[in-house]
Amino acid sequence: MRVVISLLMATAISGSLSLLSGQTPITAKMVAAGGEVFAGDAGCKMCHGADAKGVKNMTGDMTDAEWRFATGGTLEALVKAIKQGVSSEKTGGLAMPAAGDKLTDEQVKAAAAYILSLGPKPAAKKAE
Ligand code: HEC
Repeated sequence: MRVVISLLMATAISGSLSLLSGQTPITAKMVAAGGEVFAGDAGCKMCHGADAKGVKNMTGDMTDAEWRFATGGTLEALVKAIKQGVSSEKTGGLAMPAAGDKLTDEQVKAAAAYILSLGPKPAAKKAE
């Protein structure tokens, strides 16, 4: 049964299967776990909006084709930005807090996978 459910989920996000980035394939399981991290205590949702499309005067849209700090929009780049945060010198405003001490590596990776699953980014960029 579990397998069937995983397969169904994989099919549901098959549009995102091209999100194989670097050596780490993004799985439906990671995306599901990442959604929980995003909506959870780390507060991602609070600053980035429930749909990751940003909050006015605070954060940008993470579902469009532009990455301001996680350069290239790879899983690895997102992981780095989430773990280390982004200083206010770099953002020119509110800092992105480092989540590396609050979340496990697995949770950070899952959150990155979740965000990437929302947008067209890496695939769209590679296709150009
Ligand atoms: C206190 C507010 C705050 C919280 C909490 C927060 N962020 Fe951010 N985040 C920011 C700001 C501000 C930026 C820089 C501006 C931007 O890129 O929108 C940023 C940038 C990012 C970026 C890089 C975006 C880019 O365009 O390169 C990613 C990825 C990201 N955050 C993911 C997360 C995740 C995942 C969490 C939860 C673990 C989280 N953030 C929690 C405020 C926050």
